[in-house]
Amino acid sequence: MLLLTAAAGLLLASVASAQTELFHGRGQIIVLNGSSFVGVVPSRDRIGCLDDQGILTLDNCAEFSLAETSPRTFSTVSGNCTFQNKNMPANSDSAYGKDTHAWSCLAENQLVAPYENYYTVSGFKFPFICNGNLNCYYDIKGAPSLNNTRVPVWQFYWGDAQGGITPGHLQTLWLWVPVNSTKTGKS
Ligand SMILES: *[C@@H]1O[C@H](CO)[C@@H](O)[C@H](O)[C@H]1NC(C)=O
Ligand SMILES: *[C@@H]1O[C@H](CO)[C@@H](O)[C@H](O)[C@H]1NC(C)=O
Ligand SMILES: *[C@@H]1O[C@H](CO)[C@@H](O)[C@H](O)[C@H]1NC(C)=O
Ligand SMILES: *[C@@H]1O[C@H](CO)[C@@H](O)[C@H](O)[C@H]1NC(C)=O
Repeated sequence: MLLLTAAAGLLLASVASAQTELFHGRGQIIVLNGSSFVGVVPSRDRIGCLDDQGILTLDNCAEFSLAETSPRTFSTVSGNCTFQNKNMPANSDSAYGKDTHAWSCLAENQLVAPYENYYTVSGFKFPFICNGNLNCYYDIKGAPSLNNTRVPVWQFYWGDAQGGITPGHLQTLWLWVPVNSTKTGKS
C-alpha cells in the first residue's frame, strides 16, 4: 500500500514538472470551452485564441512573452497584459465580476501592485494558465463565430449569489502552447 502510494506520487510529480517546464518563454494562449480542467480536451474544446491585445478571436493567435521571474506577467508586441485597465469593458452581467474589466495587452498598461502572477499547476494534464489564488477559469459572453469577431475575456468570479458561470456566458480555460520563434510579433 505504502509502496503503491509512493509510486503514484512519483508519477504525479513527473506529470507535474512536464507542465511547469512548458510554462516559459513565448507561446500562444488558446481558449478552451470547459468548466473542468479534468474533463476538457484541447483538440475538441478549442473555441479560439487571444490576439496581441489580449482579446479572444477565432484564429488570430498572438505570441505572448512570459516573464521568467515573479511576478510572472504576460506581454505582447502591443504592451503589458493585465485585468486592471479600467478602460476595458466591465463584466456587467456578472454578480461578482460586474466591477472587473476585461484582459488587455496595450501600450498604456503599466504594471502596478498588486501584480497578477500567472502560473500552471503540476497536476494538470495540460499547462492551463491560472493566476492569483487558483483562478484558473475565465468568463466570456460567447464563442467567436467569425474571423473578425473579437470577444473580451474576464476573470471568472463566483460566490453564494452566483455559484457558476455568469448566466448566458461560457466558462473557459486558457491553454499555454509554447512556440519556438524568437520574434515578438504575431505568429
Ligand atoms: C461548450 O460546452 C458545453 C458543454 O459541453 C456545450 O454544451 C456547448 O455547446 C459548448 N459551446 C461551445 C461554443 O463550444
Ligand atoms: C510594462 O510595465 C512596466 C512596469 O512594470 C513598465 O516599466 C513598462 O514600461 C511597461 N511596458 C510597456 C510596453 O508599457
Ligand atoms: C477564416 O479565415 C480562414 C483562413 O484565413 C478561412 O479559411 C475561413 O474561411 C475564414 N472563416 C470565416 C468564417 O470567415
Ligand atoms: C521547437 O523546439 C524544440 C526543442 O528545442 C524542437 O525539438 C522542435 O523541433 C522545435 N519546433 C519547431 C517548430 O521549430
